[in-house]
Amino acid sequence: MTDDYLFRSSPRSSYAAKAFAKVNLHLAVGPARADGFHDLVTIFQSLDLADTVRVSLANEQIEQAESSGHGPVRALTVTGQDSNSVPTDATNLAWQAVDAVAVALQAEHAGKLELPPVTVLIEKNIPVAGGMAGGSADAAAALRAANSLFAEQANIELLDEPVLHNIAAQLGSDVPFCLHGYTALGQGRGEKLHAVPTTGTYHWALVANEQGLSTPQVFAEFDQLYQGSPQPDAGDGEKKGPSAVPHDPSLSETTALTAATQSGDVQQLAGLLRNDLQAAALRLRPDLSRILDAGSHAGALAGIVSGSGPTCAFLCADEQTAHYVATEVEKKIAGTRGITAMSPAGGAELIEC
Ligand code: C5P
Repeated sequence: MTDDYLFRSSPRSSYAAKAFAKVNLHLAVGPARADGFHDLVTIFQSLDLADTVRVSLANEQIEQAESSGHGPVRALTVTGQDSNSVPTDATNLAWQAVDAVAVALQAEHAGKLELPPVTVLIEKNIPVAGGMAGGSADAAAALRAANSLFAEQANIELLDEPVLHNIAAQLGSDVPFCLHGYTALGQGRGEKLHAVPTTGTYHWALVANEQGLSTPQVFAEFDQLYQGSPQPDAGDGEKKGPSAVPHDPSLSETTALTAATQSGDVQQLAGLLRNDLQAAALRLRPDLSRILDAGSHAGALAGIVSGSGPTCAFLCADEQTAHYVATEVEKKIAGTRGITAMSPAGGAELIEC
Protein backbone atom coordinates (compact mmCIF):
# COMPACT_ATOMS: atom_id res chain seq x y z
CA MET A 1 0.00 0.00 0.00
CA THR A 2 1.54 3.36 -1.03
CA ASP A 3 1.36 6.63 0.88
CA ASP A 4 -0.56 7.97 -2.10
CA TYR A 5 -3.30 5.44 -1.57
CA LEU A 6 -3.46 6.09 2.16
CA PHE A 7 -3.85 9.85 1.76
CA ARG A 8 -6.14 9.98 -1.27
CA SER A 9 -9.51 11.41 -0.25
CA SER A 10 -12.74 10.49 -2.03
CA PRO A 11 -13.48 12.48 -5.21
CA ARG A 12 -15.15 15.83 -4.68
CA SER A 13 -18.86 15.95 -5.43
CA SER A 14 -19.04 19.65 -6.25
CA TYR A 15 -16.93 22.40 -7.83
CA ALA A 16 -17.65 26.14 -7.88
CA ALA A 17 -16.16 28.81 -10.09
CA LYS A 18 -16.67 32.52 -10.39
CA ALA A 19 -16.58 34.61 -13.52
CA PHE A 20 -16.45 38.35 -13.91
CA ALA A 21 -18.51 40.89 -15.82
CA LYS A 22 -16.87 42.90 -18.62
CA VAL A 23 -16.94 46.36 -20.03
CA ASN A 24 -15.84 47.23 -23.57
CA LEU A 25 -13.43 50.18 -23.36
CA HIS A 26 -13.50 50.29 -27.16
CA LEU A 27 -16.15 48.63 -29.33
CA ALA A 28 -15.82 49.26 -33.05
CA VAL A 29 -18.41 47.41 -35.13
CA GLY A 30 -18.22 46.67 -38.85
CA PRO A 31 -21.05 45.84 -41.25
CA ALA A 32 -23.05 42.60 -40.87
CA ARG A 33 -21.24 39.55 -42.28
CA ALA A 34 -22.86 36.82 -44.39
CA ASP A 35 -23.43 34.76 -41.19
CA GLY A 36 -25.28 37.67 -39.55
CA PHE A 37 -22.48 38.42 -37.06
CA HIS A 38 -20.48 41.65 -37.15
CA ASP A 39 -16.71 41.88 -37.22
CA LEU A 40 -15.49 43.74 -34.17
CA VAL A 41 -12.35 45.37 -32.91
CA THR A 42 -12.88 45.63 -29.19
CA ILE A 43 -10.89 46.10 -26.00
CA PHE A 44 -12.50 44.07 -23.26
CA GLN A 45 -11.73 44.61 -19.59
CA SER A 46 -13.09 42.43 -16.78
CA LEU A 47 -14.68 43.99 -13.69
CA ASP A 48 -14.60 42.60 -10.16
CA LEU A 49 -18.37 42.05 -10.27
CA ALA A 50 -18.87 38.29 -10.45
CA ASP A 51 -21.43 35.49 -10.61
CA THR A 52 -20.69 32.10 -9.03
CA VAL A 53 -21.56 28.82 -10.71
CA ARG A 54 -21.54 25.52 -8.84
CA VAL A 55 -21.70 22.15 -10.61
CA SER A 56 -22.55 19.25 -8.26
CA LEU A 57 -23.35 15.56 -8.51
CA ALA A 58 -27.14 15.17 -8.74
CA ASN A 59 -28.71 13.45 -5.74
CA GLU A 60 -30.76 10.30 -6.34
CA GLN A 61 -34.09 12.09 -6.34
CA ILE A 62 -32.99 14.63 -8.95
CA GLU A 63 -31.24 11.88 -10.91
CA GLN A 64 -34.62 10.20 -11.47
CA ALA A 65 -36.35 13.46 -12.45
CA GLU A 66 -36.96 14.16 -16.10
CA SER A 67 -34.45 16.61 -17.54
CA SER A 68 -35.16 19.21 -20.22
CA GLY A 69 -31.84 18.39 -21.91
CA HIS A 70 -30.02 15.33 -23.27
CA GLY A 71 -26.66 15.71 -21.54
CA PRO A 72 -25.58 15.23 -17.90
CA VAL A 73 -27.44 18.26 -16.48
CA ARG A 74 -30.56 17.29 -14.55
CA ALA A 75 -31.54 20.67 -13.11
CA LEU A 76 -30.39 24.30 -13.04
CA THR A 77 -31.27 26.78 -10.30
CA VAL A 78 -30.65 30.52 -10.21
CA THR A 79 -30.51 32.71 -7.09
CA GLY A 80 -29.67 36.37 -6.45
CA GLN A 81 -30.13 39.59 -8.36
CA ASP A 82 -32.68 39.42 -11.27
CA SER A 83 -32.74 35.62 -10.94
CA ASN A 84 -36.38 35.39 -12.09
CA SER A 85 -35.48 36.48 -15.59
CA VAL A 86 -32.76 33.84 -16.12
CA PRO A 87 -33.80 30.63 -17.96
CA THR A 88 -33.45 27.42 -15.93
CA ASP A 89 -33.58 24.98 -18.84
CA ALA A 90 -31.22 23.88 -21.62
CA THR A 91 -31.43 27.35 -23.23
CA ASN A 92 -29.22 28.64 -20.39
CA LEU A 93 -25.64 29.05 -21.66
CA ALA A 94 -24.18 27.58 -18.43
CA TRP A 95 -26.24 24.40 -18.98
CA GLN A 96 -24.94 24.22 -22.56
CA ALA A 97 -21.38 24.74 -21.29
CA VAL A 98 -21.62 21.70 -18.97
CA ASP A 99 -23.04 19.58 -21.83
CA ALA A 100 -20.26 20.75 -24.14
CA VAL A 101 -17.55 19.78 -21.61
CA ALA A 102 -19.10 16.30 -21.35
CA VAL A 103 -19.18 15.94 -25.16
CA ALA A 104 -15.53 17.06 -25.47
CA LEU A 105 -14.35 14.68 -22.72
CA GLN A 106 -16.24 11.80 -24.37
CA ALA A 107 -14.63 12.71 -27.71
CA GLU A 108 -11.17 12.52 -26.08
CA HIS A 109 -11.98 9.07 -24.60
CA ALA A 110 -13.78 7.46 -27.55
CA GLY A 111 -17.17 7.76 -25.83
CA LYS A 112 -16.15 5.30 -23.10
CA LEU A 113 -16.54 7.53 -20.05
CA GLU A 114 -19.24 7.18 -17.41
CA LEU A 115 -20.01 10.80 -16.59
CA PRO A 116 -22.38 11.37 -13.68
CA PRO A 117 -25.64 13.38 -13.80
CA VAL A 118 -25.15 16.85 -12.31
CA THR A 119 -27.00 19.95 -11.15
CA VAL A 120 -26.00 23.58 -11.75
CA LEU A 121 -26.51 26.45 -9.29
CA ILE A 122 -25.93 30.04 -10.46
CA GLU A 123 -25.67 32.94 -7.98
CA LYS A 124 -26.27 36.15 -9.93
CA ASN A 125 -24.68 39.51 -9.19
CA ILE A 126 -24.07 40.67 -12.76
CA PRO A 127 -27.09 42.51 -14.25
CA VAL A 128 -29.15 40.22 -16.52
CA ALA A 129 -29.47 41.25 -20.21
CA GLY A 130 -27.37 44.28 -19.23
CA GLY A 131 -24.56 44.35 -21.81
CA MET A 132 -22.01 43.12 -19.25
CA ALA A 133 -21.66 39.50 -20.46
CA GLY A 134 -23.44 38.01 -17.43
CA GLY A 135 -24.68 34.93 -19.31
CA SER A 136 -21.27 34.50 -20.95
CA ALA A 137 -19.54 34.77 -17.56
CA ASP A 138 -21.83 32.03 -16.20
CA ALA A 139 -20.93 29.82 -19.17
CA ALA A 140 -17.20 30.43 -18.61
CA ALA A 141 -17.49 29.57 -14.90
CA ALA A 142 -19.54 26.47 -15.76
CA LEU A 143 -16.82 25.32 -18.17
CA ARG A 144 -14.19 25.43 -15.41
CA ALA A 145 -16.39 23.82 -12.73
CA ALA A 146 -17.69 21.03 -15.01
CA ASN A 147 -14.21 20.32 -16.37
CA SER A 148 -12.88 19.80 -12.83
CA LEU A 149 -15.86 17.79 -11.57
CA PHE A 150 -16.00 15.40 -14.54
CA ALA A 151 -12.19 14.95 -14.66
CA GLU A 152 -12.11 14.14 -10.96
CA GLN A 153 -15.12 11.81 -11.05
CA ALA A 154 -13.84 9.90 -14.10
CA ASN A 155 -10.22 10.10 -12.88
CA ILE A 156 -8.99 11.59 -16.14
CA GLU A 157 -7.01 14.66 -17.30
CA LEU A 158 -8.72 18.03 -17.54
CA LEU A 159 -9.56 19.40 -20.99
CA ASP A 160 -6.71 21.74 -21.83
CA GLU A 161 -7.02 25.52 -22.33
CA PRO A 162 -7.14 25.57 -26.18
CA VAL A 163 -9.99 23.02 -26.10
CA LEU A 164 -11.87 25.07 -23.49
CA HIS A 165 -11.30 28.20 -25.58
CA ASN A 166 -12.82 26.51 -28.67
CA ILE A 167 -15.84 25.35 -26.70
CA ALA A 168 -16.21 28.87 -25.29
CA ALA A 169 -16.13 30.40 -28.79
CA GLN A 170 -18.88 28.03 -29.95
CA LEU A 171 -21.06 28.99 -26.97
CA GLY A 172 -20.93 32.75 -27.65
CA SER A 173 -18.78 35.64 -28.81
CA ASP A 174 -17.99 36.94 -25.28
CA VAL A 175 -17.44 33.57 -23.57
CA PRO A 176 -13.71 33.23 -24.50
CA PHE A 177 -12.99 36.64 -22.96
CA CYS A 178 -14.89 35.69 -19.79
CA LEU A 179 -12.72 32.58 -19.56
CA HIS A 180 -9.49 34.59 -19.82
CA GLY A 181 -10.36 37.96 -18.21
CA TYR A 182 -8.02 40.92 -17.52
CA THR A 183 -7.69 43.25 -20.55
CA ALA A 184 -7.78 41.86 -24.07
CA LEU A 185 -8.14 42.90 -27.67
CA GLY A 186 -11.01 40.98 -29.29
CA GLN A 187 -11.37 40.53 -33.04
CA GLY A 188 -13.61 38.48 -35.33
CA ARG A 189 -16.93 38.12 -33.49
CA GLY A 190 -14.96 39.00 -30.34
CA GLU A 191 -13.63 35.47 -29.86
CA LYS A 192 -10.09 36.03 -31.21
CA LEU A 193 -8.18 37.36 -28.22
CA HIS A 194 -4.81 38.96 -27.52
CA ALA A 195 -3.83 40.10 -24.03
CA VAL A 196 -3.35 43.87 -23.62
CA PRO A 197 -0.92 45.06 -20.93
CA THR A 198 -2.49 47.35 -18.32
CA THR A 199 -1.24 49.29 -15.32
CA GLY A 200 -3.22 50.27 -12.27
CA THR A 201 -6.83 49.89 -11.20
CA TYR A 202 -9.83 51.69 -12.67
CA HIS A 203 -12.96 52.64 -10.73
CA TRP A 204 -16.42 52.36 -12.24
CA ALA A 205 -19.97 53.30 -11.34
CA LEU A 206 -22.32 50.93 -13.18
CA VAL A 207 -25.95 51.88 -13.52
CA ALA A 208 -28.09 48.83 -14.22
CA ASN A 209 -31.65 49.01 -15.45
CA GLU A 210 -34.82 47.14 -14.50
CA GLN A 211 -35.57 46.61 -18.17
CA GLY A 212 -32.94 44.64 -20.14
CA LEU A 213 -32.01 44.94 -23.82
CA SER A 214 -31.65 42.09 -26.32
CA THR A 215 -28.19 41.95 -27.94
CA PRO A 216 -29.47 40.71 -31.35
CA GLN A 217 -32.04 43.52 -31.33
CA VAL A 218 -29.36 46.15 -30.68
CA PHE A 219 -27.19 44.77 -33.52
CA ALA A 220 -30.26 44.78 -35.80
CA GLU A 221 -30.92 48.40 -34.86
CA PHE A 222 -27.25 49.15 -35.60
CA ASP A 223 -27.71 47.64 -39.09
CA GLN A 224 -30.78 49.76 -39.71
CA LEU A 225 -29.24 52.90 -38.34
CA TYR A 226 -26.04 52.65 -40.33
CA GLN A 227 -27.38 50.92 -43.38
CA GLY A 228 -25.50 52.98 -45.75
CA SER A 229 -24.14 55.57 -43.31
CA PRO A 230 -20.56 56.46 -42.36
CA GLN A 231 -19.08 55.07 -39.16
CA PRO A 232 -21.34 56.07 -36.29
CA ASP A 233 -20.57 58.95 -34.05
CA ALA A 234 -20.79 57.16 -30.66
CA GLY A 235 -23.29 58.41 -28.24
CA ASP A 236 -25.37 61.07 -29.92
CA GLY A 237 -28.43 58.82 -30.35
CA GLU A 238 -29.74 60.98 -33.20
CA LYS A 239 -31.78 59.28 -35.90
CA LYS A 240 -29.75 59.31 -39.08
CA GLY A 241 -30.80 58.59 -42.63
CA PRO A 242 -29.13 55.84 -44.64
CA SER A 243 -25.96 56.79 -46.51
CA ALA A 244 -22.73 54.63 -46.62
CA VAL A 245 -21.86 51.26 -44.98
CA PRO A 246 -19.81 51.39 -41.73
CA HIS A 247 -16.14 50.75 -42.45
CA ASP A 248 -14.38 47.60 -41.28
CA PRO A 249 -13.04 48.36 -37.82
CA SER A 250 -9.33 48.93 -37.72
CA LEU A 251 -6.72 47.95 -35.16
CA SER A 252 -4.96 51.29 -35.49
CA GLU A 253 -7.96 52.97 -33.85
CA THR A 254 -7.09 51.25 -30.57
CA THR A 255 -3.47 52.46 -30.37
CA ALA A 256 -4.11 55.53 -28.20
CA LEU A 257 -6.39 53.59 -25.86
CA THR A 258 -3.96 50.72 -25.33
CA ALA A 259 -1.23 53.31 -24.63
CA ALA A 260 -3.52 54.80 -21.95
CA THR A 261 -4.20 51.41 -20.29
CA GLN A 262 -0.50 50.60 -20.45
CA SER A 263 0.47 53.80 -18.67
CA GLY A 264 -2.52 53.64 -16.31
CA ASP A 265 -3.64 57.17 -17.23
CA VAL A 266 -7.33 57.28 -16.28
CA GLN A 267 -7.92 60.83 -17.61
CA GLN A 268 -6.56 59.88 -20.99
CA LEU A 269 -8.51 56.62 -21.02
CA ALA A 270 -11.74 58.47 -20.18
CA GLY A 271 -11.40 60.59 -23.32
CA LEU A 272 -10.93 57.52 -25.51
CA LEU A 273 -13.87 55.27 -24.47
CA ARG A 274 -15.89 54.32 -27.57
CA ASN A 275 -18.96 52.20 -28.22
CA ASP A 276 -20.37 51.99 -31.76
CA LEU A 277 -23.49 50.23 -30.43
CA GLN A 278 -24.36 53.15 -28.20
CA ALA A 279 -26.40 55.11 -30.74
CA ALA A 280 -28.42 51.96 -31.58
CA ALA A 281 -29.03 51.25 -27.88
CA LEU A 282 -30.13 54.86 -27.38
CA ARG A 283 -32.56 54.65 -30.30
CA LEU A 284 -34.19 51.62 -28.66
CA ARG A 285 -33.96 53.15 -25.19
CA PRO A 286 -33.92 56.97 -25.35
CA ASP A 287 -34.27 57.01 -21.52
CA LEU A 288 -30.59 55.99 -21.25
CA SER A 289 -29.41 59.47 -22.28
CA ARG A 290 -30.81 60.86 -18.99
CA ILE A 291 -28.71 58.30 -17.12
CA LEU A 292 -25.57 59.25 -19.09
CA ASP A 293 -26.21 62.93 -18.33
CA ALA A 294 -26.86 62.25 -14.63
CA GLY A 295 -23.57 60.31 -14.33
CA SER A 296 -21.48 63.07 -15.85
CA HIS A 297 -23.22 65.72 -13.72
CA ALA A 298 -22.43 63.63 -10.64
CA GLY A 299 -18.71 63.79 -11.46
CA ALA A 300 -17.79 60.82 -13.67
CA LEU A 301 -14.86 61.38 -16.05
CA ALA A 302 -16.80 59.66 -18.87
CA GLY A 303 -19.88 57.51 -19.35
CA ILE A 304 -20.80 54.99 -22.04
CA VAL A 305 -23.45 52.38 -22.64
CA SER A 306 -21.81 49.06 -21.76
CA GLY A 307 -21.71 46.75 -24.82
CA SER A 308 -25.27 46.38 -26.15
CA GLY A 309 -26.68 48.02 -22.99
CA PRO A 310 -28.72 49.06 -21.17
CA THR A 311 -26.19 49.22 -18.28
CA CYS A 312 -24.31 52.52 -18.36
CA ALA A 313 -20.66 52.42 -17.25
CA PHE A 314 -19.05 55.54 -15.76
CA LEU A 315 -15.28 55.74 -15.43
CA CYS A 316 -14.38 57.72 -12.30
CA ALA A 317 -11.20 59.24 -10.93
CA ASP A 318 -11.29 57.20 -7.69
CA GLU A 319 -13.36 54.78 -5.60
CA GLN A 320 -15.08 57.53 -3.61
CA THR A 321 -16.30 59.29 -6.75
CA ALA A 322 -17.52 55.98 -8.19
CA HIS A 323 -19.64 55.40 -5.03
CA TYR A 324 -21.02 58.94 -5.22
CA VAL A 325 -21.93 58.64 -8.93
CA ALA A 326 -23.60 55.23 -8.44
CA THR A 327 -25.65 56.51 -5.49
CA GLU A 328 -26.61 59.83 -7.10
CA VAL A 329 -27.82 58.33 -10.39
CA GLU A 330 -29.79 55.60 -8.59
CA LYS A 331 -31.43 58.26 -6.39
CA LYS A 332 -32.24 60.51 -9.32
CA ILE A 333 -33.59 58.00 -11.84
CA ALA A 334 -36.29 55.48 -10.94
CA GLY A 335 -35.78 51.89 -12.08
CA THR A 336 -31.98 52.07 -11.91
CA ARG A 337 -29.51 50.33 -9.61
CA GLY A 338 -26.07 51.77 -8.94
CA ILE A 339 -23.15 49.39 -8.42
CA THR A 340 -19.44 50.07 -8.10
CA ALA A 341 -16.69 47.89 -9.50
CA MET A 342 -12.97 47.92 -10.16
CA SER A 343 -11.10 46.75 -13.22
CA PRO A 344 -9.27 44.81 -14.47
CA ALA A 345 -10.29 41.57 -12.73
CA GLY A 346 -9.25 38.06 -13.76
CA GLY A 347 -10.88 35.32 -15.79
CA ALA A 348 -13.18 32.48 -14.72
CA GLU A 349 -11.56 30.65 -11.81
CA LEU A 350 -12.33 27.83 -9.40
CA ILE A 351 -13.11 28.91 -5.85
CA GLU A 352 -13.13 27.03 -2.58
CA CYS A 353 -16.58 26.99 -1.01
O1 C5P B 1 -22.28 35.42 -29.88
P1 C5P B 1 -23.55 35.67 -29.16
O2 C5P B 1 -24.47 34.47 -29.22
O3 C5P B 1 -23.38 36.18 -27.79
O4 C5P B 1 -24.28 36.81 -29.96
C1 C5P B 1 -25.63 37.16 -29.73
C2 C5P B 1 -26.14 37.92 -30.91
O5 C5P B 1 -25.49 39.18 -31.00
C3 C5P B 1 -25.90 37.25 -32.23
O6 C5P B 1 -26.93 36.37 -32.55
C4 C5P B 1 -25.86 38.42 -33.19
O7 C5P B 1 -27.16 38.85 -33.48
C5 C5P B 1 -25.22 39.51 -32.35
N1 C5P B 1 -23.77 39.62 -32.55
C6 C5P B 1 -23.29 40.14 -33.75
N2 C5P B 1 -21.94 40.27 -33.93
C7 C5P B 1 -21.07 39.93 -32.97
C8 C5P B 1 -21.54 39.41 -31.73
C9 C5P B 1 -22.90 39.27 -31.56
O8 C5P B 1 -24.06 40.47 -34.65
N3 C5P B 1 -19.76 40.09 -33.17
